[in-house]
Amino acid sequence: GRTLSFIRAPEHIDDTGSYRYESEGALLVEDGKIVAMGNFATVNAAAPEATVVIDHRPYLILPGLIDTHVHFPQMQVIASYAANLLEWLNTYTFPEECRFVEQAHAERIARAFFDEFFRNGTTTAVAYCSVHKASADAYFAESLRRGSLMIGGKVMMDRNAPQGLLDTPETGYDETRQVIADWHGKGRNHVAITPRFAITSTPEQMERVQALAEEFPDLHIQTHLSENHDEIRYTCELFPDARDYTDIYAHYGLLGPKSLFGHAIHLSDREADAMSEAGAVAVHCPTSNLFLGSGLFPLRKYQRRDKKLRIAVATDIGGGSSYSMLKTMDEAYKIQQLLGERLNPLESFHLMTLGNAEALSLADRIGTLEPGTDADFVVLDAAATPAMRLRMETVKSLAEELFLLQTLGDDRSVVETYVAGRAARPVS
Ligand code: GUN
Ligand code: FE
Repeated sequence: GRTLSFIRAPEHIDDTGSYRYESEGALLVEDGKIVAMGNFATVNAAAPEATVVIDHRPYLILPGLIDTHVHFPQMQVIASYAANLLEWLNTYTFPEECRFVEQAHAERIARAFFDEFFRNGTTTAVAYCSVHKASADAYFAESLRRGSLMIGGKVMMDRNAPQGLLDTPETGYDETRQVIADWHGKGRNHVAITPRFAITSTPEQMERVQALAEEFPDLHIQTHLSENHDEIRYTCELFPDARDYTDIYAHYGLLGPKSLFGHAIHLSDREADAMSEAGAVAVHCPTSNLFLGSGLFPLRKYQRRDKKLRIAVATDIGGGSSYSMLKTMDEAYKIQQLLGERLNPLESFHLMTLGNAEALSLADRIGTLEPGTDADFVVLDAAATPAMRLRMETVKSLAEELFLLQTLGDDRSVVETYVAGRAARPVS
């Protein structure tokens, strides 16, 4: 097939130095790792004799797509009709997450979750499980079976939600430690410390979260920040001593280079400074921000700062409305259009691969097709539907093809998804 792998962020739409592309490309895969990437004839000549050749011409082979913020217990929340974030959480999302107290339910949804992600070409997700430890067990056990590199965490929340969805400062702490002991480093699994957001954690719980962050400084931390104006107002009422929303997390030592802040739409300059100084990541969730009416993520404003904010992109299922990172970047593009800015397709494809991998500090493992990295990749067809095929007739460049894939493509464009060198097959 044709291989495409980014090596840095593209500066403009003709920035051919930002990626490696082979029109007659090949990957050599051994034991779940990419061993060689390059021209087919060259790679094939150097391959061991018993190597099986899989022909993916004329399709594009890219690194597996990465989704840096998603809620695994919200598969049955998508398409819930609510006016805004807090109504959506209270009316649909919290009641649904209560169901994950049942192990069998969590296991069923975990199977469906991995099937759906691989069907969409996403090979790594960073997920919130529910408050129940069993939901994290179901998620990581399924990931281990599939051989995937997944990040996730048991959500910590001890107030402002239904009783069935609350832990306590102590149980949240103890169960998170147990999830880390059980799953971190098992297979390719990574555990993230996961306080849901400041509204659902008491100051006492935030102190226990801080203790975890200090005990496990290498783990990712994920939470929500500055998504919606009512949410911001309520949060600041709950923590009256904080300068602003970001300052709450900073106060508990949660602002660092492994910290992922979902949404981060309405940051003040002071908050953006605090984020960039700490090297924290703002996770853009375009379909969710539009679906819940949360706001337009000021990507360029954040990137034009003296010290750039680190940015990642994500679906935020079930606030988000598509599992597809292609659709996600289609909506990201339209958000920039509304802000009078541009987002070119090279940047979009960089973001959903290497860009997200760098935001997770995992670019040495995923997000490229570089030899030595894990063999997670996706095979994409930009002519997957009659309308795409017709449009493809007039496409003249790689950037145009990527833009077509992003604009009209979705799961129908995913020909195959490889996880650790194996074609992913649905189980549910
Ligand atoms: N803020 C706190 N919890 C959630 C959630 O589940 N989804 C979204 N979009 N925002 C949140
Ligand atoms: Fe979210």
